[in-house]
Amino acid sequence: MTRPLLIDTDPGCDDAVAILLALECDALEVTGLTTVHGNAPVEETTANARAILEFVDRTDVPVAMGADRPLLVDLETSEHVHGEGGIMGDLPDPGPATRPIETHAAQYIVEQARAHEGDLSLAAIGPLTNVALAVAIEPDLPDLLDELVIMGGAAFTPGNVTPLAEANFHSDPHAARRVVRDCDPTIVGLDVTQRAAVPPELVDGLDGSEGDGPLERSLQAWLTYYEDDRLERYGIDSAAIHDALVVASLIDDDVVETSVYHLEVGADGDLARGALVADANDVTGEEPNGRVAVDADYERYRELVVRSLERRLARTPSDVTQ
Ligand code: BDR
Ligand code: CA
Repeated sequence: MTRPLLIDTDPGCDDAVAILLALECDALEVTGLTTVHGNAPVEETTANARAILEFVDRTDVPVAMGADRPLLVDLETSEHVHGEGGIMGDLPDPGPATRPIETHAAQYIVEQARAHEGDLSLAAIGPLTNVALAVAIEPDLPDLLDELVIMGGAAFTPGNVTPLAEANFHSDPHAARRVVRDCDPTIVGLDVTQRAAVPPELVDGLDGSEGDGPLERSLQAWLTYYEDDRLERYGIDSAAIHDALVVASLIDDDVVETSVYHLEVGADGDLARGALVADANDVTGEEPNGRVAVDADYERYRELVVRSLERRLARTPSDVTQ
């Protein structure tokens, strides 16, 4: 039996790898991509999501475009990290086959959750605006989902946008606060994703040679998207493929280890904006309201990603040109 999975995303180099990983997994059925502002404006993240689907001949997967800005704060995008248009690599111009459906992403999340009656997993790998809007439309959303897994936040490690905040939570802190308070999430944040690298040399067929086809070239770019100064800053050798760790954790329960905490997100004021706060010493006495990934089996994760990408590449003639 396959598990239905909806991905709320802002592609994004690491989003692209996460989406490929999900599409390649026989145990998952990707029921759609909902798009949100984040790594680029939503028009561009939507075009990128469509292009990824067209790239791998999955134009059957519906795309629903969502929020073009955060709930309250101003829009900020991350082309300085992911490249012009929010993503690196060669991507086809999206054609009519992947034109977004009429339904707004937030409404689509609600409809999919209702349609799958408690079986749907929602992977939120961008700012949480669509998910917050979805829970405003349908307050029972958490009960209608099987699980909500989020890439966001930095509970016990420094942030990547401010000393306290990770990019997805910082982009829309009010949405993050609403979702963390109301949706019983599993948070796979920077604590574990910063080390979720998949060096391209591990993947057979990604030798970076001139003759490589567009998928190989794009994968090279997606797996290495960090500039050197970013690698140095984080003391890592290869780019963090944050969002793929969320999908890997949905495929294999042993990829991340989580602990329950009472969680809150700082939404107001400059310093606390987007900070994920986990009450590890139970000083608030509040009930736990979510799980945070505190460790990961990176070898297991890498094996999963490498195997999937190799399988995908084996079906793609390397001399295909666009
Ligand atoms: C998160 O922010 C985005 O830039 C990435 O796609 C990922 O979802 C990492 O902080
Ligand atoms: Ca993302």
